[in-house]
This record gives sequence, structure tokens and C-alpha cells, in this order.
Amino acid sequence: MKSALITGITGQDGAYLAKLLLDKGYKVHGLVARRSSDSRWRLREMGIEQDIVYLDGDMADACSVQRAVIKSAPDEVYNLAAQSFVAASWDQPVTTGIVDGLGVTHLLEAIRQFSAQTRFYQASTSEMFGLIQAEQQDEHTPFYPRSPYGVAKLYGHWITVNYRESYGLHASSGILFNHESPLRGIEFVTRKVTDAAARIKQGKQQELRLGNIDAKRDWGFAGDYVEAMWLMLQQDTPDDYVVATGITTTVREMCRIAFEHVGLDYRDFVKIDPAFFRPAEVEVLLGNSAKAQRVLGWKPRTDLDTLIRMMMDADMKRVAKE
Ligand code: NAP
Ligand code: GDD
Repeated sequence: MKSALITGITGQDGAYLAKLLLDKGYKVHGLVARRSSDSRWRLREMGIEQDIVYLDGDMADACSVQRAVIKSAPDEVYNLAAQSFVAASWDQPVTTGIVDGLGVTHLLEAIRQFSAQTRFYQASTSEMFGLIQAEQQDEHTPFYPRSPYGVAKLYGHWITVNYRESYGLHASSGILFNHESPLRGIEFVTRKVTDAAARIKQGKQQELRLGNIDAKRDWGFAGDYVEAMWLMLQQDTPDDYVVATGITTTVREMCRIAFEHVGLDYRDFVKIDPAFFRPAEVEVLLGNSAKAQRVLGWKPRTDLDTLIRMMMDADMKRVAKE
């Protein structure tokens, strides 16, 4: 039985990845930070809460990360833990830098010292492209991060490359474009929109306040994207891969799809609120995942309409029960 350690197991991707690995017969360990409120709700929703070995730890605490690596004796480590909300990274730039940046070194060092055969996946991001330097971004596009989050993630990306090149670790980095699901955190725009559309439809909310709805994102389904993570660690050679759908859509159009699904016109409810604009915006992201498709045999299977429909259906049911 293979052993895996997932940091960030209580997050959206952590839940989908844990389910995928359990289905493949892995023993799954999760590094979980101490919280005062319940953080395992996604694992419960997936029906896998009892199937995971939980290890206490925090990415900011090198000792706890080291202990988790030693205890789990992992064949594969997936580093998904992060302060992942871009907007919050301007409010907490230092925490974001420590967790999303230095935290990666804590994990890589623990692997290098105690478990050098372990294969490592780093959750890198299209936010590293930021102010885009090419119309469609791939593994060769220069980076230009636009937020403390993007900057911290760029450190995490390069330290992963550096440990691969310095010590020969099997360390790969997935440069994933936005991916969503019914388990997406409510602060991210797709979930904020589907939750609001469900509430407005059911008379529990009157309007939806948003920021820059002309921003464009390349949105895919989280369930598809965790397969790419796993595939990267099954290759003989570690490498970096862009994972994206190759289609970019405005937040405005995403709103139209969501509201239309419940028979509403978003223009009647969406209000633009300067409070949700960012100090520096990533206006457009559009990925080219040709390498992942060619080498990994991966491809996106869920289009945006289907994804939004899935999220709307889940939110309509959840809001009705409240
Ligand atoms: P998410 O839902 O925000 O999950 C983040 C996870 O990190 C949670 O389990 C959280 O624990 C954990 N965490 C936060 N701070 C921690 C700390 N100091 N120590 C230990 N754990 C900590 O994020 P996601 O959407 O699943 O994304 C997974 C990873 O992929 C992240 O690294 C993100 O930056 C990256 N990424 C995401 C996307 C995307 O579109 N989703 C795209 C590219 C890259 P709590 O639940 O206890 O807070
Ligand atoms: N969250 C949010 N809330 N975003 C809004 C709003 C709003 O009210 N109004 C407009 N937007 C715009 C943002 O300005 C941004 O351009 C876009 O919607 C998407 O915002 P988010 O859903 O918060 O995601 P993100 O693109 O900033 O970051 C996500 O994707 C990255 C990959 O590109 C996160 O999952 C990151 O962790 C991930 O790395």
C-alpha cells in the first residue's frame, strides 16, 4: 500500500485529491493545522473523514512539518497548504509569505533529510503569470506576479525547481489555473456568485456586490485537476506542467450563466462595489496545457457551463435546507 501525505487536506483540492488517492488504494495522511472551528466539513461531504490519518502541524512550523514527514513515511507528498485567497494576501503579506513561500522549504528540507526517495508535488499557480507576458501562458512564459500571494507562490515554485536541480529530488510543480467546484471556499468569485444566485432565487438575499467583473479567468473543475497532480508524480522524471482548459471567460459572463440557470438576469442583482477591487489586478489568464496533455495524457473533461450548473445545483439544495 502506497503512503501519501497531503498538506492542505481540508481545502477544496485536498478533499478531491484525498478521495482520488483513497480510491487508488493509498494510505492517506493529512497535515492539519489547529483551528478553533471545524475544518473537516469537505472531507465529511466527500464521505472520507474517517479514512484519513490526521497529523497535527502548520506549514509555518518546520518541526511539525518534519514530524509529519517522518511519521507518514510517504511515497508521495502533495503540498496544497496555503493562504490561497489572493485578496487576503495584501492584508496578511507576511503570513502569506511564510506559509506559501518558506513553508515549501520546510517541507522540501524535511524530505531531503529524512525521506529523499519521496516524490513531491508543489501547488503552483497561474497567479505567477500575473501581468501576462504572452497571450496564452505555458511553461515558457515569463512570470510577473501581481500580489503578495503571487510573489510568495513564485518563491515556492522556484525552491521546488531548485531542490530538484540541487539534490535530485523527484519534485514537480503544477502551474494550475483557476479550478472550482461545489467545495470551493465562499470567498472566491465563482462560489460567491452561485451562493448569491441561490439565495436571491430563494428570497434570502437581495443583491450581489462584486468588484472587477471584466476580469477573465481560465476556469476548470477541481476534480479534473487533482488527476493531473497525481499523474505528475507517476512520471519517471519530475517536471513542471501548466494545467488549464485553454478557454478564458469574464466574471460577468460567469454571472450570466449562474443566474440564468435559476431563471434570473444577473443585471438585475449585481452591484459594482469598489471594496472588492484589488490594489493590483490580474486582468486575464489563459493557459496552454498542451504539455500536460501530451506527456501526462491529461485533459480537462468539464466545461464551464457544466461546472457552474454543478455548483448552482449544490448551492440551491444547501440554501433550501438553511
Ligand atoms: P483552499 O481551499 O484555500 O485550501 C487551503 C488549505 O491549506 C486548507 O486545508 C487550509 O487549512 C490549509 N492551510 C492554510 N494555512 C495553513 C498552514 N499555515 N498550515 C497548514 N495548512 C494550512 O485552497 P485550494 O483551492 O484547495 O488550493 C490548494 C492549493 O492549490 C493551494 O496551495 C492554492 O494556493 C493552490 N492553487 C489553487 C488554485 C485554485 O484555483 N483552487 C489554482 C492554483 C493553485 P484550513 O482548512 O485549516 O484553513
Ligand atoms: N473573490 C472575488 N470577489 N473576486 C472578484 C470579485 C469578488 O467580489 N469581484 C470580481 N472578482 C474578480 C477578482 O478581482 C479576480 O480577477 C477574479 O474575480 C477571480 O477572483 P477569485 O475567484 O478570488 O480567484 P483568483 O483568480 O484571485 O485566485 C484563485 O485562482 C488562482 C489561480 O489563478 C485562487 O484559487 C488562487 O489560490 C489561485 O492560485
